[in-house]
Amino acid sequence: MKPKIVIFASGNGTNAENIIKYFQATETAEVVQVLSNKKDAKVLARAEALNVAAQSFSKTDLNDPEIIGKKLSEIDPDLIVLAGFLLKIPEYMVADFPDKIINIHPALLPAYGGKGMYGMHVHRAVVENGESQSGITIHYVNEHYDEGGIIFQAKTRLTPEDSPEDVAAKIHKLEYEHFPQVLENLILSL
Ligand code: GAR
Repeated sequence: MKPKIVIFASGNGTNAENIIKYFQATETAEVVQVLSNKKDAKVLARAEALNVAAQSFSKTDLNDPEIIGKKLSEIDPDLIVLAGFLLKIPEYMVADFPDKIINIHPALLPAYGGKGMYGMHVHRAVVENGESQSGITIHYVNEHYDEGGIIFQAKTRLTPEDSPEDVAAKIHKLEYEHFPQVLENLILSL
């Protein structure tokens, strides 16, 4: 059986879609489940359109080892991937899946990380500070927002004319280019 990936996502899900498609075209692993804390998140429809099981849950479900914990132990994933997931991962999950929960952050951590720093909030702050570069960070998840060990970073140049939307587009491009390959390398090293 192929190694199994579960994706957690809260919103649009373009990264989730990109990862699903990448692994549908390789033998390395398979995305078997997409889980979202928003029942109307676009990511659920994107997953279903690609024949991947998709399900929403509440914050209470996430924090309950008898609900999401049980679901995950039934699936027994090799990697859990956070692709635009905005809730804090509960401690029981970190304990159950040491070094198996991977997040992508749309900035060069440790800069622009922490609670409240997600999506466009990050890109607005980067533009307000006149940064000449930004990038992506792929890292392990621990009990603290954006503080787990860094696995991979990639940078992109910014110009003074770049709007937060321009920065978001540059960051998404980097994410699509690198995230699936980094996950594949992690799977191959398991
Ligand atoms: C991505 O840029 C991801 O890095 C970011 O949310 C976006 C989701 O886009 N994640 C965070 O900000 C987590 N702190 P998508 O839904 O189109 O994949």
